[in-house]
Amino acid sequence: MAPISTSPSRRGGNPRPNPEEGSKAADLKGTEGKASLFQSFNPYHNAGADDIPDEEEDYKHAGLKPAFPKDLVYEPYEPIHGVRDRGLFADRSKASLLKACSDVTDLTVNIGTELHGVDVLSLSPAQKDELALLVAERGVVVLRNQKLTGEQLRDWGRYFGPPERPLHQHPSSGVPKQRGLDELHVVWHEETMRPSEASYSRTDIWHSDVTYEVNPPGITGLYNILNPANGGGDTLFSSCYGLYDAFSPEMQTYLSSLSAVHSGLEQAEGAAAAGVHLRRPGIKTVHPLVRTNPVTGWKSIFVNPAFTREIVGVPKSESDAVLRMLYEMMIVNSDLTLRVKWQEGTLVLWANDSTVHSATYDHWTPDRSCRRHAIRFAATGEIPSLYLPDGTEGRSRREALWEVNGWPVEALRERRKQKANGGFKD
Ligand code: SIN
Repeated sequence: MAPISTSPSRRGGNPRPNPEEGSKAADLKGTEGKASLFQSFNPYHNAGADDIPDEEEDYKHAGLKPAFPKDLVYEPYEPIHGVRDRGLFADRSKASLLKACSDVTDLTVNIGTELHGVDVLSLSPAQKDELALLVAERGVVVLRNQKLTGEQLRDWGRYFGPPERPLHQHPSSGVPKQRGLDELHVVWHEETMRPSEASYSRTDIWHSDVTYEVNPPGITGLYNILNPANGGGDTLFSSCYGLYDAFSPEMQTYLSSLSAVHSGLEQAEGAAAAGVHLRRPGIKTVHPLVRTNPVTGWKSIFVNPAFTREIVGVPKSESDAVLRMLYEMMIVNSDLTLRVKWQEGTLVLWANDSTVHSATYDHWTPDRSCRRHAIRFAATGEIPSLYLPDGTEGRSRREALWEVNGWPVEALRERRKQKANGGFKD
């Protein structure tokens, strides 16, 4: 897999070689920042404070624009054992949450549910537990028309994390300018930040958030406060329960025997090289390649193109081939994916353990109409494990759901006997 770009600057892309000039050593001297009105933006690394003009006194969410205060320094995280997802405390019927909704729409079969008519700030603790259960089951939950300040999002999000460290604090991304909100991560795109196609591929940017952490986030929420005027900036999601279920039982057994290295080193190096203050040093962590969600008991594939580097203990060519296959399937299997269109006031919650996501950088224009602004909380999750806390292994989501419905699970297992019958239907 290609390593995360550590390009030293967002200013300027690499010049295109002129094929008529023949081969020669690359000479990039003097091309940095040449006459470009718009800095090339590598979405792996947030823009530094110096890069963001602050001329609009009229912007009502100016306090939530990103900042990179140099006085914020975080200690390395210690592992937290025994984190219990709030979904474990929920009434499995979710009756109380459903009563608060005017309607409920499943957005696809495998991933995503939209709850209508809910004001998240009015939910009781029992309803929030049921919401956490729904997020664990459906991967993504969309709630429209919310009205939240930064403080309200932070405090509401804290409910979902353990008392000793409710929310994850990102080591390098922008935090709101308004002080005291550094448990929130800021998404900010604007006219000076032209996405640099030289810095990333569409595949590279699929990820679950900060999976290099020993306790990666569980329930994560992105709240949109400004949408590009001409549309775009959708977020794509893919179900990693569904990805696990896309394999034969033999392959599932093989994948369940593996673990993989997740690294935040490149993100940290890239951020530092871009002049962004690093608040906590980068780390590498080995996680199981298949993990079990303790709320649902379902297994999901836990790798992503942005942070997973290699599978441990297998030949490099095997590691590369397996990861490439997993990435391709998570992105192109249309039955696993969901595309969320944002509106101002949309809050999307996702299960960071069993989904991957990707921003879409299709909305850049050289004027203010392209601006996108959102803030995110990420509740600290459990240390990933193939096993449930009682030591038993998880199981296939699809098989579990078939069993609940009384359908013959054997029919799923027999798929390997199916013959290809050819043909292409257009
Ligand atoms: C992210 O990439 O972590 C947030 C998703 C988005 O900006 O759409």
